[in-house]
Amino acid sequence: MAPKDSIIVIKIGGSTLENNGTILEDILLLQSKQYKPVVIHGGGKLINKWMERQGIFPRFVNGLRVTDKDAIDIVVSVLAGVINKRMVAEISNAGGKAVGLCGIDGRIFESTIQNPLLGYVGKITKVNDQLIHDILGAGYIPLIAPIGINVTGDLEGSEFLNINADTAAGEIASALKAERLVFLTDVEGVLDVNNQLIEALSLEQGRNLIESGIAKQGMIPKLQSGLTAAASGSDVSIINGNTPQALLHSVDAKRIGTIIKKR
Ligand SMILES: Nc1ncnc2c1ncn2[C@@H]1O[C@H](COP(=O)(O)OP(=O)(O)OP(=O)(O)O)[C@@H](O)[C@H]1O
Ligand SMILES: [Mg+2]
Repeated sequence: MAPKDSIIVIKIGGSTLENNGTILEDILLLQSKQYKPVVIHGGGKLINKWMERQGIFPRFVNGLRVTDKDAIDIVVSVLAGVINKRMVAEISNAGGKAVGLCGIDGRIFESTIQNPLLGYVGKITKVNDQLIHDILGAGYIPLIAPIGINVTGDLEGSEFLNINADTAAGEIASALKAERLVFLTDVEGVLDVNNQLIEALSLEQGRNLIESGIAKQGMIPKLQSGLTAAASGSDVSIINGNTPQALLHSVDAKRIGTIIKKR
């Protein structure tokens, strides 16, 4: 059994959402063992598909999506709509209880424009976690789409901002003082220059991987956010969500994926 109130923040990559893995079953099992799972999800691949349908070509800078006015509407619709509700329905059909929401609900993520060159991409300025505690207290699993409310004074054209899901997961983990933060992605973990899995990563090694360019694209925000969470005391791992029971193994401290050392 988990220690009382043991919060586990789980980031599910869009890269793993479309495969019929065991992630949602694993989350329900963790909840039955008295853990309190809090889920943040991405949706990169499906967002790209919907954008391409509208003739918008996705662009990324350091792993962050460049989001213009047309793009932000698609991001909100796909992330907080199609993807989020599909996951809630799947958990519900498996007999679980979930509430799907995004960072606008309860003002969970207050955010401002991070860098005008990226468009409507948000930097979280404040996390309001009361609603998450209320949902957990009622026995539901919160599934959060990483959209922030734009608190930039003049709004600059959009009430919403697109927040990288890895960054959002790290911020939620730190606000909730989560015992553990797990990133589920589509690779075995963090890979070194020879594409070999790094089983344990120090904070310094992690920073070096980013600086040297060995960690690229989507791995950059994952590492940045994971390093911050590990430094503030959470157990952090990056694992392959397509591997059956990977999440359970990671929580049971079986060697799987990459573990970020706390110092
Ligand atoms: N050093 C590295 N080790 C492992 N993966 C890396 C590395 N550098 C870059 N990557 C890339 O990072 C990708 C994972 O990030 P990506 O953003 O694509 O997925 P995700 O975060 O799981 O999904 P989403 O962005 O939809 O939430 C891997 O598929 C891999 O291509
Ligand atoms: Mg990503």
